[in-house]
Amino acid sequence: MKKVIILGSTGSIGTQTLEVIEKLQDYKVYALSCGRNIELIKKQIEKFSPKFVCLQNSDDAKNLSEIYSNVKFSSGEKGLLELIDNEYDILVVATSGIVSVKTVIKAIENKKTIALANKETLVMAGDIVMKKAKEYQTPIIPIDSEHSAILQCLNKPNNPYVKRLWITASGGPFLYNTREEMEKFSAKDALNHPKWNMGKKITVDCATLVNKGLEVIEAHHLYNFNYDDIKVVIHPESLVHSFVEFQDGSFLAQMGVPSMHIPIQYALTYPERKKGIKTNSFCPWGKKLNFFEPDFKKFPLLKLTIECGKQGGLMPAILNAANEIAVYKFLEGKINFLDIEKIVFKEIENAKNIINPTIEEIFEKDKKIRLKLSQL
Ligand SMILES: NC(=O)c1ccc[n+]([C@@H]2O[C@H](COP(=O)([O-])OP(=O)(O)OC[C@H]3O[C@@H](n4cnc5c(N)ncnc54)[C@H](OP(=O)(O)O)[C@@H]3O)[C@@H](O)[C@H]2O)c1
Repeated sequence: MKKVIILGSTGSIGTQTLEVIEKLQDYKVYALSCGRNIELIKKQIEKFSPKFVCLQNSDDAKNLSEIYSNVKFSSGEKGLLELIDNEYDILVVATSGIVSVKTVIKAIENKKTIALANKETLVMAGDIVMKKAKEYQTPIIPIDSEHSAILQCLNKPNNPYVKRLWITASGGPFLYNTREEMEKFSAKDALNHPKWNMGKKITVDCATLVNKGLEVIEAHHLYNFNYDDIKVVIHPESLVHSFVEFQDGSFLAQMGVPSMHIPIQYALTYPERKKGIKTNSFCPWGKKLNFFEPDFKKFPLLKLTIECGKQGGLMPAILNAANEIAVYKFLEGKINFLDIEKIVFKEIENAKNIINPTIEEIFEKDKKIRLKLSQL
């Protein structure tokens, strides 16, 4: 039995991970963690009987410990660090935001296999995290469908015959709209993703294409490729999840229905494969596949995000914090869709970079920006 810890078990990736584990034999839930969705975590505790549960809030942890006496509860970031200091096999990191970044670094030091969905970890602290992973020889298996596709096509780590990586993007809900139309779109419009069903923050990031820029940064760290050798290609059908271009002109692509169950399962069973939830649901007959270049003018945040990745240091963390605050303001109806990019561009224009920042410097910067922007 492989014992699995899921951080963010009540979210989009977390709940799908539980669905995958339910179907897989030989995998068992060992511990769970979530934020504020207490009703759902109660159902998950009753169904999966985890030994440990960590909640965001200490009062919630206290209340639940009175109901479930067989479960050990903890809370907050300290609780997450305690949670991962146990005997288990795989840590699934499916929290949103930055709460689990330090937890991932500790799990790397503990040499636990990490199935990583959370983007912020590599975007904010990719240099530090990957250096540690190399030092401790800890495997980091991506859950994101694009990075999973690349892993499946690369064949082996540091494959010397690879020329470039191509990351596909659906283009999001506003792919065919003008900027004048985008100006008027509400959160409801932005959350209406044509292909993928995901958490709210990442869905808005798909509408601005920031998400694709963040994925380029992740790919740079995960696979050690120069930014100029990582291309973004719009593929509205979302059936090819990314491809790898080899020096001899050959391309390998990975295809499948747009469902996160497949890359989640691959991350859990890597390098093996097992019968999956979606095995019979995809037939390629008659499917028309389109690929075209992204429109950087219409989606300027895509270019800016990649640019921040190239600059490195604190810039990706600055962009990430400004974007997250702006996205939540948009979701709350406080700003309009194109204001997201205005806020992020302004923050980046005024930013002072530090090369090779420490993790403390990254978190300090993140906190400052969040504080400043949330007061606007
Ligand atoms: N969804 C996808 O298809 C997808 C694909 C690729 C990558 N990702 C990445 O995976 C991560 C998760 O995405 P998602 O869409 O699953 O997000 P989501 O649906 O918003 O779920 C986020 C999870 O994190 C928990 N959480 C948030 N803040 C927390 C805190 N301070 N302490 C403890 N737990 C906290 C939430 O708990 P509560 O709900 O209980 O508050 C929830 O369980 C993101 O980094 C995203 O970019 C997602």
